[in-house]
Amino acid sequence: MFKIPFLDLPPLRGAAGAVRLPGSKSISNRVLLLAALSEGKTVVRDLLASDDTAVMLDALRALGCGVWNEGDAVVIDGLGGRLRAREAKLFLGNAGTAMRPLTAALALLAATQGASFEVSGVARMHERPIGDLVDALRGLGCEIDDLGNAGYPPLRLRGPSTLALDAPVRVRGDVSSQFLTALLLALPLVAEHDIRVEVIGELISKPYIEITLALLERFGIAVKREGWEAFIIPAASRYRSPGEVFVEGDASSASYFVGLGAIAATDAPIRIEGVGSESLQGDVRFIEAAAAMGAQIKTGPNWLEVRRGAWPLKGITLDCNHIPDAAMTLTVMALYADGATTLTNIASWRVKETDRIAAMAAELRKLGATVDEGPDWIRVEPLKDWKAAAIHTYDDHRVAMCFSLAAFNGLVTDAAVPVRILEPHCVAKTFPDYFETLFGVVIANAADVPVITIDGPTASGKGTLADEVGKALGFGVLDSGALYRVAGLAARRAGLNLDDGDAVAAIVPTLQLRFGDGHVFLGQEDVSARLRAEATGLLASQVAVHPQVRKALHQLQLDFRRLPGLVADGRDMGTAIFPDASLKVFLIASAATRAERRHKQLISKGISANIDSLREDLEARDERDKNRSASPLVPAQDAQLLDNSALTIEASVDQVLDWWQQRRPF
Ligand code: DC
Repeated sequence: MFKIPFLDLPPLRGAAGAVRLPGSKSISNRVLLLAALSEGKTVVRDLLASDDTAVMLDALRALGCGVWNEGDAVVIDGLGGRLRAREAKLFLGNAGTAMRPLTAALALLAATQGASFEVSGVARMHERPIGDLVDALRGLGCEIDDLGNAGYPPLRLRGPSTLALDAPVRVRGDVSSQFLTALLLALPLVAEHDIRVEVIGELISKPYIEITLALLERFGIAVKREGWEAFIIPAASRYRSPGEVFVEGDASSASYFVGLGAIAATDAPIRIEGVGSESLQGDVRFIEAAAAMGAQIKTGPNWLEVRRGAWPLKGITLDCNHIPDAAMTLTVMALYADGATTLTNIASWRVKETDRIAAMAAELRKLGATVDEGPDWIRVEPLKDWKAAAIHTYDDHRVAMCFSLAAFNGLVTDAAVPVRILEPHCVAKTFPDYFETLFGVVIANAADVPVITIDGPTASGKGTLADEVGKALGFGVLDSGALYRVAGLAARRAGLNLDDGDAVAAIVPTLQLRFGDGHVFLGQEDVSARLRAEATGLLASQVAVHPQVRKALHQLQLDFRRLPGLVADGRDMGTAIFPDASLKVFLIASAATRAERRHKQLISKGISANIDSLREDLEARDERDKNRSASPLVPAQDAQLLDNSALTIEASVDQVLDWWQQRRPF
């Protein structure tokens, strides 16, 4: 998704259909590191393409690994345990799954082979603890410098130094399970003898350790274990690439669609492809929590189907230590429940991308909810009186995705409100096209989908303004003039008399029109450039006078009203096509200004033009558009007039966005 400052979700009313999940973040980054430490090539399929995997791939490249694409797969040519670069500065964003394991692996490699590496991240990464891992590595003899606050990144890992591997390696397990994961992934590098890793404190997020162990096994390392207290990496362990690895869909990402099904899939289920009963990831157990809240769930080896069961949902009390990430979704589902929902044993939320207990509590309260929180728990009451709220997302993908489920409030209240998600692009951490995927399976009333209309005479800059406003809001854009231009062009090509309204209208339903990425296709032909020609504009204004033609194009235009919203430009968008639009703008640039703009535009394309005749053409076209009896060019009564003659495009866009903000309830 384009970087927009906020995304407004109108009230959503239902859900049905299938989604394919992006690859698991946890599996993706573990596989990448294991492939990098192995000898030879590993073909990784269905890898998650996101911010967190991008920083890992960049790091591997900087370390001298071969990294390339083959079709949809990513191929890693591993180091085989031998450093190719002895110095590197690695920026790891906010990816804990890159920071922790790379720190361990590079500290050990620097110690045994001599090197100096720096690892750093975004500001929040420098507030996320790593001290317990660093202590464990220093205990082994690794040289690690704190480059910022002790116990937090950034760090320098240097060597050579002598490692002491005879005594057990002891690491705390009660702050982040990633410290143990990091050691388990990295210690096979130096396992000349058995290495024993002992966990201090109660190990949290155990399912993530299961993922680590299963993937180590895939790469040839059979870790022995004593319950959750101790793990032994056998002597002479060596990473062996399995050749090819398939990454499962992300089970944490599945939670939003499981929640969606539980709340809104009343007729057909939501089908989720990529995770299922055979999944390695602990977060699939989220489905048990969702079922306890009332969801009806069917599972297959790598799919789930979810529909609404109990309604309202049932409030639950649950220890969520085993599903720390997915459990956040329960706090929004809790708004639709019949009683309070209490989640316990979630202290780790406080050291994730943000302090997630504080974040969820604060944002749920903005919707009107009653929320209590403690050091390691949160309780959410059902919500009756919903408020339109702008949800701060703390650069935390999961906060953004969770709150999309708040847009279904119209299912429990007559006074449905929209939900504004601030900085929605933060979903790129794990699910770059989350909102597009969501919009593909949700149902909205057309009347709830916001429309901004921009009408005005020819060459008034409607198209550019509509495109820019659409980009700023993440809305789709309808260039209705293009439809009249296509109709005119097709009628001319068919040899029709353009004054014969019935004949021109009759070919409209036969047009094989397709719109994509700012291009218009008629059958197989890309007619975009053709449509923009002055001559085609004249054909358009000729066919546009016929009520039959306007009628034939009516539904086609309504079909553009899709989530999350539409900016429609033309002559009668505010008067005839979208009379209920929430904002109507009418441009009134003078004929002289418009002629000048068109002149510049043509000259810049190397087309010679004469200002005076351009102006005459414009005025003739204005006359025809204004004076025709069918939908003449007039401002809607409730339109905002915008004279952009003396305005830059940025200033016009700002003005329209300003009017838009004033009309929104946030
Ligand atoms: O906006 P444009 O220049 O692409 O429009 C071409 C012609 O199509 C314009 O002269 C009038 C007609 N038109 C219309 O009648 N109603 C619209 N909504 C859009 C365009």
